[in-house]
Amino acid sequence: MNAIECTGLSKKYGEFTALKDFNVSVEKGSVFGLLGPNGAGKSTTINILATLLTPSSGSAKILGFDVQTQAQEVRAWVGICSGASTFFEDLTSQEILNYYAMLYGLGGQARDKKVSEVIEMFGISEFKDDQFRELSTGMRQKTALAKSLLNGPQVWLLDEPTLGLDVEIAREVREIIRRMASEEDVTVLLTSHYLFEVEELCQEVAVINHGRKIAQGKPSQIKKELGLLDVISFTVNALDAKRLSSLQRLKGVQAVHYLKGKMVLKTMPSPSVVGSVVDELEKRKIRVRDLEVRKPTLEEAFLRLVEDA
Ligand SMILES: Nc1ncnc2c1ncn2[C@@H]1O[C@H](COP(=O)(O)OP(=O)(O)OP(=O)(O)O)[C@@H](O)[C@H]1O
Ligand SMILES: [Mg+2]
Repeated sequence: MNAIECTGLSKKYGEFTALKDFNVSVEKGSVFGLLGPNGAGKSTTINILATLLTPSSGSAKILGFDVQTQAQEVRAWVGICSGASTFFEDLTSQEILNYYAMLYGLGGQARDKKVSEVIEMFGISEFKDDQFRELSTGMRQKTALAKSLLNGPQVWLLDEPTLGLDVEIAREVREIIRRMASEEDVTVLLTSHYLFEVEELCQEVAVINHGRKIAQGKPSQIKKELGLLDVISFTVNALDAKRLSSLQRLKGVQAVHYLKGKMVLKTMPSPSVVGSVVDELEKRKIRVRDLEVRKPTLEEAFLRLVEDA
């Protein structure tokens, strides 16, 4: 059974269609990325899965439970953290966590244990006694993320979990996400505009645009299907660059440019192409510097997909 299953899911706000016929299956224990430009329908999808919004048509299931007819069961197994999290500003992080743990029905030692566990996990102890109003963006987000794990969710919905976080805290958060999936078998569905982060974390992604899914697959698959080229570049003097016109004829080389001392080749994504370029340089006894092979990023694939849609 898949942890998350959306079938023909649609959402209308009045006459406006924010999500249209969305189908997706997310495997248990995986990290799945939901990508799309602003207004694509990502938060709408997450909020439907968290039972905060009702779909206009279609269905969504979490661990087999229907978000509309079995909302209580869904809520028991889901943890959600979205950028919009606000708490009572006068309470401290620890008080907020205790309060929500109580709402989740935890009492006595079980509550203390769970709250300590999330405080430890997110390094909250150093600011646990500060009022929420005094906290930095990073501390607020750590508190919100910790709160979303209090009920021990099997499905963790994260809407832009690292938005506005500094490099170090964002990295800590990514590490926790990775660990929850790989060690605790928690299924994570996240949205993010930081595509390097998505590429680093997610086994699979879906791209939506104007409420419609326009691509889905492993990041590597999506890049491959779009036929994005590798870029091989190196520094070489102008005289030698002239002698390298033969590079154009190598198998897999699609384009060759020379500009301001830099040779740039666009090539098919195959390791053998790099080998034949290097062989050619050796054959002609041409010395180059700063040889670099750059693979296409998910960001490039994303931009191509959204532009073409
Ligand atoms: N309550 C609402 N009433 C009317 N329209 C809404 C409502 N909530 C969202 N929308 C619209 O639905 C569309 C999808 O919004 P959603 O918040 O799901 O996008 P998103 O992909 O999360 O975007 P972002 O990257 O900016 O967070 C947008 O055009 C938005 O303006
Ligand atoms: Mg959003």
